[in-house]
Amino acid sequence: MVAVAILAAGRGSRMKSNLPKVLHSLGGLTLVERVIDSCGLINPEKVLVIVGYQADKVKNSLDGIENIQFVEQKEQLGTGHAVCQVLPYLKDYTGDLLVLNGDVPLLRQETIEKLLQTHQNHQNAATILTAKLPNPSGYGRVFCDERNLVKQIVEHRDCNASQKENNRINAGIYCFKWDFLADVLPKLTPNNNQKEYYLTDVVDYLNPVMAVDVEDYLEISGINNRKQLTKAYDVLQERIKDYWMSAGVTLVNPDSITIDETVSLESDVVIEPQTHLRGKTTIGSGSRIGPGSLIENSKIGENVTVLYSVVTDSQVENSSRIGPYTHLRGHASVGESCRIGNFVEVKKTSIGKNTNIAHLSYLGDAKLGEKVNVGAGTITANYDGYQKHLTQIGSGTKTGANSVLVAPINIGDDVTVAAGSVVTKDVENDSLVIARVRQVTRKGWRPKNIAHNSDDKSNSTNQKTDS
Ligand code: UD1
Ligand code: MG
Repeated sequence: MVAVAILAAGRGSRMKSNLPKVLHSLGGLTLVERVIDSCGLINPEKVLVIVGYQADKVKNSLDGIENIQFVEQKEQLGTGHAVCQVLPYLKDYTGDLLVLNGDVPLLRQETIEKLLQTHQNHQNAATILTAKLPNPSGYGRVFCDERNLVKQIVEHRDCNASQKENNRINAGIYCFKWDFLADVLPKLTPNNNQKEYYLTDVVDYLNPVMAVDVEDYLEISGINNRKQLTKAYDVLQERIKDYWMSAGVTLVNPDSITIDETVSLESDVVIEPQTHLRGKTTIGSGSRIGPGSLIENSKIGENVTVLYSVVTDSQVENSSRIGPYTHLRGHASVGESCRIGNFVEVKKTSIGKNTNIAHLSYLGDAKLGEKVNVGAGTITANYDGYQKHLTQIGSGTKTGANSVLVAPINIGDDVTVAAGSVVTKDVENDSLVIARVRQVTRKGWRPKNIAHNSDDKSNSTNQKTDS
């Protein structure tokens, strides 16, 4: 039986931010969301999130995640004080308590599972995740005997010069026998450089406390400042990219690509340089995205190409070609085998299959049928200054270059809109609509008082002859 306590009450002053540290985003998820996710394999009975600094913001950000209880730490007096706050919530509890720092976001689920197993197999009072770091600066140092039993943990700030030489550090991840911990928490005192109640001081009262080294030390990177946040992002990116490459995705020049953990790719997807995949994005097999594209919260089908384009909150069906320089946004939905091309913006518009919008258009709040051909420069005038209105264009319809379709408007099937038209009234199926001034050609016309060159060859400048 295991309960989890996540320490997320601190401000994170070293981040120099108005946002609580645990709400900083790392590859599409906040730090605290990642810490909660890392408990995915151990099936905890309860997850207690200790909140304090901007508590409401932290609570709201986790709205909808099941099985979480919030515990308020009104004053942030240290990690030991934070864990004290769970005492009333675990009164009759007799199992283990896993304590996780809310700022250690790269832990693998398997690492936590292994830590818990070691803890339970050895019947330890506490088991602490540790690592030997090339640069241990900033972390608490863990001092063990030859059997890996912990004698003391000293915070970096409290270390003397020789203690600083020890590169075995505390990851901030612990398993405790709860009834043992509950007994010693009230004994903590703030006798240290920071005048804080340190959770790490409980090792002075518990026995046995075992240290377990993590295999991949990058997992336990704690985030205290922006530089560490950036480094953690790089670690995460490498993990994500390794995963997708081994799942059959080609990444061309991976250093220039970023992929959120929330993205899902099928095999034989090719991601070209300078492409960024964010949020809940999925990309189907055989699609080629980039170079130079941003896809966010969007669903891209199979065998689609997206070149130098931005796609957000939208959907593209199989075998369509997007770009170069297309912007799909606000629930645009592109059907199968469409071509959306150069400098085309599509917003909140659904497009039937085999439709082409090849150049220089804006389609907003529109519904297009199948096999529509939208001519270069076609614009839906969807906004009257107060409200947005719908434009409907039926299947097989062709709009001429530079047409303006003034919404609300319904243009039927198999309509031809003449180039340069400003269409303000509905058009029936199977019609030609011309809505522009008819061309007038006057043969031999000249502005008044200007002579023909052939009339007066000496007057080469066609000057006015007013007097
Ligand atoms: C802590 C450990 C240190 C370890 C490091 C690993 C202690 C005393 N030190 O140091 O040994 O090497 O983590 O990353 O525990 N928090 C609260 N309430 C508080 C104070 C902090 O909830 O009153 C939360 C913070 O929001 C944060 C976590 O506890 O998520 C850790 O606090 P932080 O100040 O970052 O501790 P470190 O100095 O990193
Ligand atoms: Mg920290």
